[in-house]
Amino acid sequence: MPYNAELADIALTIARRAADLARQRRAEGVEIAASKSSLSDIVTRADRESEQLIRDAIAASRPNDGFFGEESGGATGTSGLTWVVDPIDGTVNYFYDIPSWAVSVAVVEGDPDPATWRTLAGAVVNPAAGEAFTAFEGGGARLNGHAIHVKPGTQLELALVGTGFGYDAEKRRRQAAIVTELIGQVRDIRRIGAASLDLCAVAAGRLDAYFERGLNPWDHAAGALIAREAGATVGGLGDAREGSDLLVAAEPGLFAQLDPVIQKLYAGWD
Ligand code: IPD
Repeated sequence: MPYNAELADIALTIARRAADLARQRRAEGVEIAASKSSLSDIVTRADRESEQLIRDAIAASRPNDGFFGEESGGATGTSGLTWVVDPIDGTVNYFYDIPSWAVSVAVVEGDPDPATWRTLAGAVVNPAAGEAFTAFEGGGARLNGHAIHVKPGTQLELALVGTGFGYDAEKRRRQAAIVTELIGQVRDIRRIGAASLDLCAVAAGRLDAYFERGLNPWDHAAGALIAREAGATVGGLGDAREGSDLLVAAEPGLFAQLDPVIQKLYAGWD
């Protein structure tokens, strides 16, 4: 088995274990452990337990690799590889028992900085839907083991576009203004509530495109690779616009139409 495929298997196995744990905790009742940047930015006890499980599993099977997680931060390794982890993406959905949350595990080469890293493999597991998305570099993208592809090109006016809102109050207001501008130019807009699943939805042809500004590396590391391996162009992570934190993912023909519109809408917001 090629090295990157082995890494994808490890990511999937670990993400599945963490997703099972989080699902079990969900059934027992969710406990908010803390608020982070704002009252809506919550951490549950399960977020922390899920991250600890993943961290321990990686330390046991890949002791020389680094780790970079949403809840417990980073640790540098010696191998040049780093595991980038969101233990529960879509925590607010998780809290409300909306079945759109996921465990996201990716392994990247280089510093854990999306402007420069190379994502080798990743897995996004949504246990409530019984879905596991996986990809490794050059190996295509899969949903529950079956190959998936972006939906063939569509016109901007016919595109179903996903987006998200970070937790900073001022940025949320700006994002709402951008959504107001965009909604008249596309078929419709969706806010699923978990960036990793938005990117997997593009990969599986369930969304035509997705954009969001200000995501954290753990939100998009696995999902961006899965979308790219399914045929999407993913801009804003160093390759398309170095240093930008505005991510746009879409089938290449649609990307060419949507990206300039999004860029224009965001221009002047800094
Ligand atoms: C959030 C979700 C949400 C996105 C936010 C993220 P979290 O991650 O992915 O959809 O819009 O920007 O912070 O807090 O649920 O892990």
